[in-house]
Amino acid sequence: MAIIQFFDTTLRDGEQTPGVNFNTKEKVQIAMQLEKWGIDTIEAGFPIASEGDFEAVQAIAQAAKRMTVAGLARCQKKDIDRAHEALKEAVHPQIHVFLATSPVHMEYKLKMTPDEVIASITEHVSYAKSKFDKVQFSPEDATRTEKNFLLKAVQTAIDAGATIINIPDTVGYSNPTEYGLLFKYLIENITSQEEIIFSSHCHDDLGMATANALAAIENGAKRVEGTVNGIGERAGNTALEEVALALHIRKDFYQADSNIVLNETKRTSDLVSHLSGVAVPRNKAIIGANAYAHESGIHQDGVLKNPDTYEIITPSLVGVNTNSLPLGKLSGRHAFSTKMEELGYQLNEEEIKIAFKRFKALADKKKQVTDEDLIALMIGQSQETEEICRLERVQLQYVSDGSQGAIVSMKTDKEETKTESAIGSGSIQAIYNSIDKIMAQQPELKQYAIKAITGGEDAQAEVYVTVQDRETRQQFNGTGIDFDVLQASAKAYVQASERFKKEMERSK
Ligand code: KIV
Ligand code: ZN
Repeated sequence: MAIIQFFDTTLRDGEQTPGVNFNTKEKVQIAMQLEKWGIDTIEAGFPIASEGDFEAVQAIAQAAKRMTVAGLARCQKKDIDRAHEALKEAVHPQIHVFLATSPVHMEYKLKMTPDEVIASITEHVSYAKSKFDKVQFSPEDATRTEKNFLLKAVQTAIDAGATIINIPDTVGYSNPTEYGLLFKYLIENITSQEEIIFSSHCHDDLGMATANALAAIENGAKRVEGTVNGIGERAGNTALEEVALALHIRKDFYQADSNIVLNETKRTSDLVSHLSGVAVPRNKAIIGANAYAHESGIHQDGVLKNPDTYEIITPSLVGVNTNSLPLGKLSGRHAFSTKMEELGYQLNEEEIKIAFKRFKALADKKKQVTDEDLIALMIGQSQETEEICRLERVQLQYVSDGSQGAIVSMKTDKEETKTESAIGSGSIQAIYNSIDKIMAQQPELKQYAIKAITGGEDAQAEVYVTVQDRETRQQFNGTGIDFDVLQASAKAYVQASERFKKEMERSK
């Protein structure tokens, strides 16, 4: 059975989602989880793009042991040099060089003739090959490129030393029939002494990113690129968890599988959702909260008689644990650390101590602490060590004209605690106005969403907010988890505001 390689670009293309800005620590945390999930190659970033990107690629290169670590580069020597520098400590380094080949991109964006594009591919792929064993080339906007010219560009890259050819559907324009046939055409018409791996890279503008990736596989692609939860530019990228499950569940059809450790899927998705601040829609395939819920009486009856009637994926297959025993107020430290081990956490004494304290505080408020609660607790714990701004106290007051008042205290740097008060037409607005005063900034609130982490009246709340710079329109996400909705809302806003503030200071 063929094994399809999985190339994850959550930290590069996924970070191009409006509002998503991971810091280096978060990127390494996600990268380590992706390695556990079974990803073959991670695109850790675009090293020339910024100091932050460079630093993150370097840190991931040092941390990853099994995965190949790739860096993105335009067809420019300075990009390739920067990627080489960032990846020099990687056990398995790879470069990903790209150049657009569609008429509209060549004429308006690059202002290059087709001949100049071909010459640039030869020059820069050869240069990349002089520095890396593994060179991947992408003809950007491949699906809107004239077919013969695409073949010429791909053949040029192969002749210059690329052994991985990625075919991006950059604007999500293609459909499964057309995209599949494009792979067939290219694979049948290239010539090479070496094995060439063809890879799909799809965007979801027409909702076909996963279907297109699978069509590429049916037509000879041996690698698929995408992101966790499908996050990415505009409508996003191929959701890798969907491809992994489609291959697994329909092995009979695709005659292929992957190295993905399926029961790490939910945990990977939760981590990316929380750190990116992009909530997973309830009805999202594989990882959405409703993906394993059966509502209609007929369906419920069928599933009780035999799950196969309406359930093609067993929840535990993807790490959704429906019948694991929850912990409670009386659970001791031993039960807690055993449970954490079962959930895959390897914590040292100090980490256990902090986590147990947080668990006890939660168990005081919540009768049953489920696996989801514990995973959320661990995500929150690792995130807080990174934050400088931290919420200390929120107090609410009713104001007689019908508005609400809030007094908020928070740390804005390692030493100082500041307190401010403000009113708003509701409690959340009053809290957010107070935080704005403390932070001395006034971003625009673009999105506020709330979800319950588990079912039940005493569920913890997870709040997602997006704030926007009123001038540049740059967006910043934040997430907050708490037993109390207002506290979770405040935490999410503090995080987004801190990211906003850092960017303002950086761009001064
Ligand atoms: O969508 C795209 O074309 C890309 C390339 C850089 C591969 O992300
Ligand atoms: Zn892309």
